[in-house]
Amino acid sequence: MAEVTRDRWTGRVPFIFAAIGSAIGLGNVWRFPYITYEYGGGTFLIPYIIGLFVLGIPWMMMEFGMGRFFQRSAPGVFESIGKKWEWLGWWPVWVAFLIVTYYTVVIAWSLHYAISSATVAWGIGEAGAAGAGDYFFGTVLRLSDGPSILGAPVWSILGLLALVWVILFFIMFKGARVIGRVSVWLVIIPWVLLAVLVIRGLTLPGAVDGLNYYLTPDFAVLGQGEVWFAAFSQIAFTLSLGMAGMFAYGSFIAKRADVTNNAFITSFSDAATAFFAGFAVFSTVGFIMQALNIPIGEVSAAGLGLAFVTFPVAVSMLPGANALIGVLFFLCLFFLGTTSAYFLAYGGVISPLMDKFGSGRVKTTLIVCIVSFLVGILYTTSGGLYWLDIVDRTVSFYGLLITGALACLVIGWGFGTGKLREYLNETSDIKVGAWWDWLIKIVAPAGLIFVLIYGGFMKDIAPEGYEGYFNWSWPIWTILGITLVFSFLLQAIKTRGPKGGD
Ligand code: PHE
Repeated sequence: MAEVTRDRWTGRVPFIFAAIGSAIGLGNVWRFPYITYEYGGGTFLIPYIIGLFVLGIPWMMMEFGMGRFFQRSAPGVFESIGKKWEWLGWWPVWVAFLIVTYYTVVIAWSLHYAISSATVAWGIGEAGAAGAGDYFFGTVLRLSDGPSILGAPVWSILGLLALVWVILFFIMFKGARVIGRVSVWLVIIPWVLLAVLVIRGLTLPGAVDGLNYYLTPDFAVLGQGEVWFAAFSQIAFTLSLGMAGMFAYGSFIAKRADVTNNAFITSFSDAATAFFAGFAVFSTVGFIMQALNIPIGEVSAAGLGLAFVTFPVAVSMLPGANALIGVLFFLCLFFLGTTSAYFLAYGGVISPLMDKFGSGRVKTTLIVCIVSFLVGILYTTSGGLYWLDIVDRTVSFYGLLITGALACLVIGWGFGTGKLREYLNETSDIKVGAWWDWLIKIVAPAGLIFVLIYGGFMKDIAPEGYEGYFNWSWPIWTILGITLVFSFLLQAIKTRGPKGGD
């Protein structure tokens, strides 16, 4: 077979920006604020920060390191550890695939709002503020009464979803080189936009009340397993771990490049961005509390819709520049979402498929874009928001953490953390000590398994099920089961693609 040239970053800066771009996404500006809001505000930051250090950073080093070591994406890495483990590289591919199907829908909502903000379509002043919730759930989503009432797709969202996939296709089909270059811009522009929004938020009357909620811890909540479950899920989500992609991004690093320092830079930039975005959202929440004279609990019970309800309310209530601030915020979401979406699709799904089947990039990219779009139609229906919630629970809570725990165990005990650590330290700026071995072999998997069972499973298997949607949350277990079976089937197929090499 001819020598295969592996897809490559064009240098350290494009790689770091691509990694940061993949990490910083809707997870920071959309998911982090609503999860923080749902799980206790300031208190949530404690398990979040613990999760960052004990779990996130060591885990990212492992994924980058293994990808670079074997020069293959996740399935190839696990196949190299032992043929019987290949499925463990495919399961996260399914997780990435399902995430990108709904992630792109949230990007489509952002585009919708970037457009409707230009005219502040939900109205200016008190009336607009009061109507922002109805605008989102009624006019934009046409929300039905439950997940079993799907209804027709909402055409405007469906059209925008198609547009998002066309844009993604054009960024992805050229591979790592283009992704690295585009990322530099798609990271810097949102940072500037976010800075503008934070300054605007902090200078609004009432901002302090929102920030108090964001920053004051209530230690009693820390005893609840679900808070830890949510925090670990958010760490994996925001750092893009547990879903195959970072293995692939690591495999595009030249063999002698740094890993550990890059993992630190990526994780810290990501956490800092989420924390910063929290100021934009919570100062706005405080402003709404004061302007409408309501307590925090009533600002928006929107959950998944927090950014899409709270922010429009604030836009209505601004003393000036309403449309401009609205457009900026939603464009920022759009840019951030896009860099992460091509990471999910390219690193998480396309690259593993190319490695396995030896198929061409353009063809593979096209197929993945079309199939993901077709699945995405589900979330554009009237019952779509419920399904988005169910699939998020399935893959981003369970999927990321289960595959992460298993990966730590197999890599830690099967491949050997000592070997990987020596390899990383050889070329990295920051040398990691033996503590890292124990985090990967014992602390991370034990912590993950504990929160999975105690924080999630025990609650979701109750008769009323997650959010009362379905008895015993059966769709969650069904989706997990089917994707696991598919992963074993893929393992059974012979690998035809490149075995690494550069
Ligand atoms: N980390 C990115 C985000 O926070 C993208 C991503 C989302 C990656 C979900 C993996 C899983 O939005």
